[in-house]
Amino acid sequence: MQSSHPTQPSRPAGADVLIVGGGVIGLVTAWRAAQRGLRVTVADPAPGGGAAQVAAGMLAAVTELHYGEQTLLGLNLASVERYPEFVAELEAASGRDTGYRTCGTLAVALDADDRAHLRELHALQQGSGLTSDWLSGRECRRLEPLLAPGVRGGLRVDGDHQIDPRRLTAALLAACERAGVVFRRHWVERLAVAADRAVGAVLDDGTELAADQVVLAAGSLSGRLAGVPADVLPPVRPVKGQILRLTVPERYAPFLSRTVRAVVRGSDVYLVPRENGELVVGATSEEQGWDTTVTAGGVYELLRDAHELIPGITELPLTETRAGLRPASPDNAPLLGPTALPGLHLATGHFRNGVLLAPVTGDALAAVLTTGELPPEARPFTPLRFSPAATSVRQEQPV
Ligand code: GLY
Repeated sequence: MQSSHPTQPSRPAGADVLIVGGGVIGLVTAWRAAQRGLRVTVADPAPGGGAAQVAAGMLAAVTELHYGEQTLLGLNLASVERYPEFVAELEAASGRDTGYRTCGTLAVALDADDRAHLRELHALQQGSGLTSDWLSGRECRRLEPLLAPGVRGGLRVDGDHQIDPRRLTAALLAACERAGVVFRRHWVERLAVAADRAVGAVLDDGTELAADQVVLAAGSLSGRLAGVPADVLPPVRPVKGQILRLTVPERYAPFLSRTVRAVVRGSDVYLVPRENGELVVGATSEEQGWDTTVTAGGVYELLRDAHELIPGITELPLTETRAGLRPASPDNAPLLGPTALPGLHLATGHFRNGVLLAPVTGDALAAVLTTGELPPEARPFTPLRFSPAATSVRQEQPV
């Protein structure tokens, strides 16, 4: 990491807020901030790119519930609740369809171990006040006739929907442009800090951008931005996900009517059917640093597991293989809002839930940027929970 730079960049016309990163989180923050009257600049060499180009777009607050993540569940549910209105507003503002589909999800078990795992998940969901219904194998196949005959049972979750992340980011980009957001299509080389305050950033062409406030929303790259003091850098690491896209020919439609998922041999596999015939099969979860190679092993495992669930998928054309990097934090939850460096905010660390958390993140950051306060639902996700002082207090507490 480079040390902070004591220059005061010249202020470009109209930069109240500089957002570093134009992925789904940076764009939703930019759009919401611009709607509140702020003059916003987004710096990114390819806005609209990032992990959302790879993501399946499941809005799976209930089926992706994990032990120890109840606080995150509250934020996930707040975002899910906002989704219909968010989509309607975004589609009107951008003039674009987002591929939002209220189709629900079916999580199934293939053997006795899977069934025990799913029963545990069901108990956790019920204990958390969530709605999901246990189905027999036969009931699962009645819903989704192409399921393998060996499916032993499943959980029907009618509230876990999906959106097409590529259309979502295209819509956000258009809405940002219409709202007057300025795009600087460059990498940010470093944060600019003066008098112990973030004051902008320097681009890779040497341009200095000044802003009253800076939002670091660079996904898994957020932990590497030069110029950010070491104790403020977010503890975000990349977790690789490989994913496949297949196409359902008209003669096979409707192939699946909802998202179907399972844990096979300990690995998640999900099949997300879009209305336009795309079928997304994901995803591996690999701690491989910055590697984004699509491997034969990754593709093989996804196809093998998906084939165990839905044998008919081997008939479908395989149209794309891709790998992306989820920005993971130490507690799997995002980092939202002000840091210990005045003027610098974070919107990163969304891990498996970047698309799901887009509406609530945009609202939370817009509130912080205009009022200085995080709304109540976002307060547990302050970056300050990872500050050296907070960490040492936690370590001293008896277990
Ligand atoms: N939320 C799905 C994934 O991260 O693979």
